[in-house]
Order: sequence, then C-alpha cells, then structure tokens
Amino acid sequence: MSSTPFIVGIGGTTSPGSSTEQALQLALAAAEAEGARVQLFGGAAIAELPHYAFGAVEGSEGGRALVEAIRKADGLIIASPGYHGSISGLVKNAVDFIEETAKDARVYLDGLPVGLIVTAYGWQATGSTLATMRSIVHALRGWPTPLGAAIKSSSGLFQNGQCTDPGSASQLELVGKQVVEFARLRTRLPSATATGPREEG
Ligand SMILES: Cc1cc2nc3c(=O)[nH]c(=O)nc-3n(C[C@H](O)[C@H](O)[C@H](O)COP(=O)(O)O)c2cc1C
Repeated sequence: MSSTPFIVGIGGTTSPGSSTEQALQLALAAAEAEGARVQLFGGAAIAELPHYAFGAVEGSEGGRALVEAIRKADGLIIASPGYHGSISGLVKNAVDFIEETAKDARVYLDGLPVGLIVTAYGWQATGSTLATMRSIVHALRGWPTPLGAAIKSSSGLFQNGQCTDPGSASQLELVGKQVVEFARLRTRLPSATATGPREEG
C-alpha cells in the first residue's frame, strides 16, 4: 500500500437522489478526510453492469473498471438498501464481480477492511441486511469494520449533501474512518515471520 490508501465505494440505488448512495458518499468523504483516495461506483454505474456470469467482464467496460479498482483497493465500503430484509439484487450483482479475483495472488478481499452501510425504512431490515453483508464479506475473506452503519431512511434525511440526523451522520463518518484506520494498521504492524519466532521462557 502506498502512503495514500485507496478506498473503493460500491452501492446505491437507481432512485434519483438515492439515500443509500448519499450515505456512501458521506462515508467516502470521511475516508478522504483521513487522507485516502476514493473511487465511487454508485447506483448508475452498477446498474450498467450486466448480470454477473463467468466471462461477463469481457464485454463490460464498467465491469472491468470495477474489478480493476477492487484489485488496487486497500479497503472497500459497500452500501445497500434493505430490500425484503436483505441486500438488493443490484448491489449483490456488483459484489459478484469480485469472483473475477478468485485466482489472483490476493484472493477476493483477502485482508481488506470493508465498511458496510444499510439504509431501510425499518430497523428490522437494517439489522438483517447488515448481518447478510457481513456474511458476504467473511465469505470473501474480508474484514468487516467493527461499526456497520444502520441508517433508517426517511424523507429529508439527506439534504445538500449532508445527513440531517447527527447519529446517522456520525455512524457514516466512523465507517469511513475505520476503513482507512484498518487499511493503515494492517500494513504498519510487523508480521510474525518478519520479526521471527518469539523466544521461549
Ligand atoms: C423492492 C423493495 C423492497 C424493500 N424492502 C424493504 C424491507 O424489507 N424493509 C424496509 O425497512 N424497507 C424496505 N424497502 C425500503 C428501502 O429500504 C428504501 O427504499 C431504501 O432504503 C431507500 O434507498 P434509496 O433512497 O437509496 O433508494 C424496500 C424498498 C424496495 C424498493
């Protein structure tokens, strides 16, 4: 990792002014404020992707761009609305493109911190969707950050690029900060092999 961590944001919906995408943008802004470089694949970008299948990237410029960004990433932030109690098909399809990295030297999201954000009208869907997203990140060998942001969306929650609810705003900021903090941590500490075995007795 260079001294500037590269954090990739994936998520949103195709709704105009998607609250999920605005939440993601705020978390990415917090990552930038911590010194990261960021790239957003928002609702419009992920809606352009074909349904994932082996070989799907070959015919998809957007798919190739997404996979290239993931390969270079030091951390990710994924934001989904809760749809029927779970991750939306749109966001899951984008996540499925990570399969392209299955045979890379760094497999999937191995060792990468991943911040998670869920928006939904009710708490039940925020909780169940967040749990599902954590399972997905574990399956991909990533490290979900300690805080996952559960945002109860309501009209007027996001205005002029800001979150009007202080509790939600601070969750989004913390998710962005934690991804950068963990991206830096994992490269700063010496590994056991670098320091040699611990002396006995
Ligand atoms: C197909 C669909 C299913 C949804 N299912 C749920 C649900 O199970 N629970 C819930 O609280 N909200 C549900 N919602 C509300 C969404 O979570 C809400 O529209 C979303 O957070 C708004 O995100 P956006 O502003 O980015 O489009 C659903 C919405 C849609 C369109």
